[in-house]
Amino acid sequence: MPSMKKAKDLRIPFTWADRHPVLLERLLYVPTFYDTHSAWTPIPWNDPRIFGQNNPVFLEYCSGNGEWICNKAKQNPHINWVAVDKQFDRVRKIWARLFRDNLSNLYILCGEAMTLTQFYLPRHSLSEIFVNFPDPWPKLRHAKHRLIQRPFLEEVAGVMLPEGKATFVTDDPPYALQMLHELAQSPSWQPLLQSPHYILNPPDYGTSFFSDLWNKKGHNTHLLLYKTLRDC
Ligand SMILES: C[S@@+](CC[C@H](N)C(=O)[O-])C[C@H]1O[C@@H](n2cnc3c(N)ncnc32)[C@H](O)[C@@H]1O
Repeated sequence: MPSMKKAKDLRIPFTWADRHPVLLERLLYVPTFYDTHSAWTPIPWNDPRIFGQNNPVFLEYCSGNGEWICNKAKQNPHINWVAVDKQFDRVRKIWARLFRDNLSNLYILCGEAMTLTQFYLPRHSLSEIFVNFPDPWPKLRHAKHRLIQRPFLEEVAGVMLPEGKATFVTDDPPYALQMLHELAQSPSWQPLLQSPHYILNPPDYGTSFFSDLWNKKGHNTHLLLYKTLRDC
């Protein structure tokens, strides 16, 4: 029986001054402006507090309101899906969908992607990752804030299983070029698509709030597909 939890029912059980990482129902919350991440020991995915079984784990960074990953979790019940986003108001929406659709194969991480990858994800544990429409930071002087850069890619490679796959999706052509460049510089990743190593407007990829928005505005979706090398 689906539970009728609402987004506002998700609350953080401590004050800002007492903030610390905490496991809540179907969610790990890692606060911002907290700096003792190294005190945390990553929890294996098969721990009863997370999935409690050993199905392959697929993780989406930048899940937003969770439309894409909730649909994937519904369509693929034998995969364990993990949604990552740093904005609590968006995470709340994913959390409400999780209960509404009774998605026992979905877990949520609320926190910053690099921090979660460095300190909270078990090493060599993910079969696939997806980064769907990360913030493009279109102004040149803001491009330094883009998520897909070498240090992040190396951290992600460390939490992937050997030959794990990564899909990067953006509507922003300069960001797609940056992704291609950063991946080409990395010793840990190998392209799975022939040159120019991306495809436009992949059919049947799944939809999200931002994919629909950019689609309506006539933007092309760029999809890059890579795998990790065996011994990274
Ligand atoms: C443009 S939205 C895309 C949301 C969703 N993928 C979609 O297609 O509708 C980008 C999302 O990435 C999240 N985000 C951006 N940088 C992040 C980071 N460093 N760590 C975690 N989440 C991040 C934002 O909070 C936002 O929800």
